[in-house]
Amino acid sequence: MKRVGIIGVGEYLPEKILTNADLEKMVDTSDEWITTRTGIKQRHLAAPGQAASDLGVRAAQQALADAKIKAEDLDLIVVATITGDMPTPSTAAIIQNKLGAKKAVCFDLSAACAGFVYGISVAQQFIACGTYKNALVVGVEVLSSVTDWLDRNTCVLFGDGAGAAVLAQVPKGGIISTYLGCDGSKTDILNIPAGGSRQPATAASIEQRQHYLKMQGNELFKIAVNTMTRAAETVLEQAGMTFKDIDLIIPHQANARIIMAVAKKLGIPEDRVYLNIERCGNMSSASMVTALCEAVQEGKVKKGDTILLDVFGAGLVWGACIIEW
Ligand code: UT7
Repeated sequence: MKRVGIIGVGEYLPEKILTNADLEKMVDTSDEWITTRTGIKQRHLAAPGQAASDLGVRAAQQALADAKIKAEDLDLIVVATITGDMPTPSTAAIIQNKLGAKKAVCFDLSAACAGFVYGISVAQQFIACGTYKNALVVGVEVLSSVTDWLDRNTCVLFGDGAGAAVLAQVPKGGIISTYLGCDGSKTDILNIPAGGSRQPATAASIEQRQHYLKMQGNELFKIAVNTMTRAAETVLEQAGMTFKDIDLIIPHQANARIIMAVAKKLGIPEDRVYLNIERCGNMSSASMVTALCEAVQEGKVKKGDTILLDVFGAGLVWGACIIEW
């Protein structure tokens, strides 16, 4: 099997910023509550009419430039998202057209906050077995389109954004180990009840606000801490490594308290954990890849470093991945 690595990254965050002070004017909340309970100070919001592909294509162009790969040479585009432009066609197909990546095979992948790690794992298989030479994996969300702006339990958490990564064969390093999982018995604690075939859009479903994200945050919190801890331990065990071998851990950005609880359980010092939640909130599929992109651009991930990605989200799904940069 061939070695596969990430050879370019990019991100796009929409210009509009919603601060905690702005939210104080919208629902019964406070900057103090949001900051201490979640670590979030602000989040980016897409402009009216700006859809997932509009964000995703900007991140993709940056990643392609970083990887020095032309769009027309792309073999595969995987878009991880739960807020694609429309139910069909795929947002990947729309991004293909916007990029001019005419020969790329395209599909979307729904694994919520674990979407990017699921996405690079899928792309890795195609490249490792020689089917394709390269792949673009985009993680993008316009969560503002499914956020109930009257529900303080959820609306303070989410943001919009996009990140992208280009994968190809690498001579050494690259993806060392990946571990993915799913527990489909808990679909009720984080979901969007309506808008699918179970509950198509009706006047009643709209009136009952069933097209918005519903979350049992408290329940999820405990599962997230335990699952992310176990995922990180499992992927290290698979690779025959310990935390001493890891230069930086990049976790899913759902809540700074979840992240620090995981780091504490794993015995990892805070300065080896990357956070962008303060500026971006939780962007589901886009969180991991934007955090990775920013960590690279800030020089916190350097050539030869070994990093660990650790994700958890609706499904419930989880994943962890070790990459030598
Ligand atoms: O993306 C992957 C999946 N998502 C997650 O993993 C998210 C996991 N959950 C969480 O991050 C946290 O559970 C939340 C941030 C959602 C909530 O924090 P919490 O510390 O678990 O708070 P809570 O739900 O236990 O609520 C505590 C109190 C409640 O008031 P009472 O019942 O104690 O009087 C809530 O009504 O805080 C209240 N509350 C708020 N107060 C001010 C809930 N939301 C807000 C708010 N502002 N925005």
